[in-house]
Amino acid sequence: MPVQQSDLLKAFSSQYLESSLDDLTVIGEVPDWLKGSFISIGPAQFEVGKTHFTHWFDGFSMLKKFTFNAGKVHFQNRFLCSEQYVKSNAEKKLYFDEFGTYARASWLGNLLHSLKFLVSKEQYDNCNVNTTKINNQLVAMTETSRILNFDRDDLNTLGDFKFTDNLRGQMSLAHPHLDAAAGEIINILTEVGSNIKYHIYKIARGSNERILIKTYTSDKLFYMHSFSLTYNYIVLFKSPLICDKFKLMFGMPFNKTLSWQENKGSSFIIINRRNGEVTEVDTDSFVCLHSVNAYEKNNELILDLICHENGNPYDTLYLKNLLSEQPIFHNPTLRRFIIDVPTKRCQMMTIANDIVEFPRINYLQRNGLAYNFAYTALMMNGEKSFLNAIQKINVNTGKAHYWCQPDYYVGEAIFVRKPNIAAEDDGIVLFITFNKIKQFSSLIILDAKTMHQLAEIFLPFHLPCGLHGNFY
Ligand SMILES: [Fe+2]
Repeated sequence: MPVQQSDLLKAFSSQYLESSLDDLTVIGEVPDWLKGSFISIGPAQFEVGKTHFTHWFDGFSMLKKFTFNAGKVHFQNRFLCSEQYVKSNAEKKLYFDEFGTYARASWLGNLLHSLKFLVSKEQYDNCNVNTTKINNQLVAMTETSRILNFDRDDLNTLGDFKFTDNLRGQMSLAHPHLDAAAGEIINILTEVGSNIKYHIYKIARGSNERILIKTYTSDKLFYMHSFSLTYNYIVLFKSPLICDKFKLMFGMPFNKTLSWQENKGSSFIIINRRNGEVTEVDTDSFVCLHSVNAYEKNNELILDLICHENGNPYDTLYLKNLLSEQPIFHNPTLRRFIIDVPTKRCQMMTIANDIVEFPRINYLQRNGLAYNFAYTALMMNGEKSFLNAIQKINVNTGKAHYWCQPDYYVGEAIFVRKPNIAAEDDGIVLFITFNKIKQFSSLIILDAKTMHQLAEIFLPFHLPCGLHGNFY
């Protein structure tokens, strides 16, 4: 039976309530070793003035935090007070163009609006994609170079994060890597000019300074959402999803700047972290939004990626499609690429045929190293409308376990490891849900080893479907 449109409508509708709640209803038991905060971020306001947003990622950013201590849970949510959020709500019209929505209704209004931002070079700052910690400060990120600081305790927005260097660029990735052994954050800043410069940089522990590792120059602005990191290599994914730099400079909605170039292949840009040497390895066309993990084995580079084919995956995430009776999605699958870097030989295998996204691993313990388990979100049991299940997959055998309950939609599943335990899957998996019957959200905690449910923590309202989360 097709899902009624109203089942998911609320999951993509605004939540204006900002709250701070104790005494939440809990069924099951929250592990008493779990101590810290799960902070998730995502779109939460989908209209301003007369403008109704058209794309999931347009929504103004909200921080959602579940804090655990000795089996007790506290919940708090607050909007991120970006310049976009504050000025748009004050003026009751969009200040910047959004990810998929124009700020002005007429073409002339759009042109004037674009010219204003072309001259002022102001940067969009609705940081609704991901959070991380830089120099002990929590920050919210989108894909421009603006990063916003927020307070861990009360989720107050503290303003722009300031770097103390002179690296320049307009775009950045919202999926930085942490090299835990070196204590460094590694990320990429893209400078759009006559050529496109991808500045790969590192930030040492306790520093606000980005130190350049390598600049990779390209004639085309290929879109990249994440990258892979191993002990010796940084790997960029060059796909035929190309961003029009002139449209970008005019400040157009970002998704309108992207186009898929048919019959063009993809390649891996492999940068040797030790000597800066660049090796390009060609392969069939795909676009990877999320790298799962990467590592080196017997002189080969292993890259596990969620790969989409044929087109811009973000085009399927317009609200009109998401809320239709038969939404159309891409079919991203988990693939392994095995690359012999000196000879550029590249083998590809599909690890599993499940259609999955939002991959996570035991990151602190296994990032950049050989590993067994990935946790992803997927649609199963005939579901066609949105993610409704969580999968734990052994990436070496393809064997998988699932969590799926009737009437639940799910967000990204985060792995949190049990302290002082060596086994890779000793810990929990947690994720925010939306129950289509109750029209409310909850947080579910699973035992990561068995995928059995340990607890469900109920909220007295809905949280719009979010993007990424992390445990601090
Ligand atoms: Fe992402």
